[in-house]
Amino acid sequence: MKGKFIVIEGIDGCGKTTQINELYEWLPKSGLIKENSKLIKTREPGGSLLGKEIREMILKNNDENSPSNLTELLLYYADRAEHISKIILPALENGDWIICDRFSGSTLAYQGYGRGININNIKKLDNIVCQNLQPDITFLLEISPEESVLRRRNKVPDRIESEGINFLKKVDFGFKIIAEEQNWIVISASSDKQMISDSIQKTLLNKFNLNK
Ligand code: TMP
Repeated sequence: MKGKFIVIEGIDGCGKTTQINELYEWLPKSGLIKENSKLIKTREPGGSLLGKEIREMILKNNDENSPSNLTELLLYYADRAEHISKIILPALENGDWIICDRFSGSTLAYQGYGRGININNIKKLDNIVCQNLQPDITFLLEISPEESVLRRRNKVPDRIESEGINFLKKVDFGFKIIAEEQNWIVISASSDKQMISDSIQKTLLNKFNLNK
């Protein structure tokens, strides 16, 4: 692959959106991206056209129509399959850079550790859907589950966010394990926003500067 695939993960309310927007502003000025390459900001679920519809299906609050845990897992992977084939792979083959808000790590954390679906089964499904595609780097923005709830207290929760603190604690535990297993860059996200972006930028300069 000629492009680069950067993923940002974390529990709800960790500040991913702010950091992704900062990164999207900074990367074109960083000197890392070749002149004729593009920078793409995308997300899961909902990074493709069909994915936007899947996102709505997954996240809407509708008790009568809530998916089972397995259906939920498969919907996230339907979104991912579409996103990979229509957006991510074409961009990487073209030499473009991608910043992606969540990827497979979120499924292991939320559906695996959160919902309790067998982790090895998720990994098998992941291999089928992602084949050999892996992020070049994944950042985990860490805040405590308590802080997550506090930061979102004035926001209407979506179906996953409505699960509450005990679910979030399992997801948080899962993220910590996955980050360790997969060598993610873990950044404390309770600190100052500027310090978090500086840390992300420094890591990217160190990792990608030499093999531009
Ligand atoms: P977002 O609000 O960060 O865009 O994410 C939407 C919600 O979907 C969030 O609560 C995390 C959840 N999620 C999963 O449960 N599994 C997944 O595979 C992904 C990508 C997201």
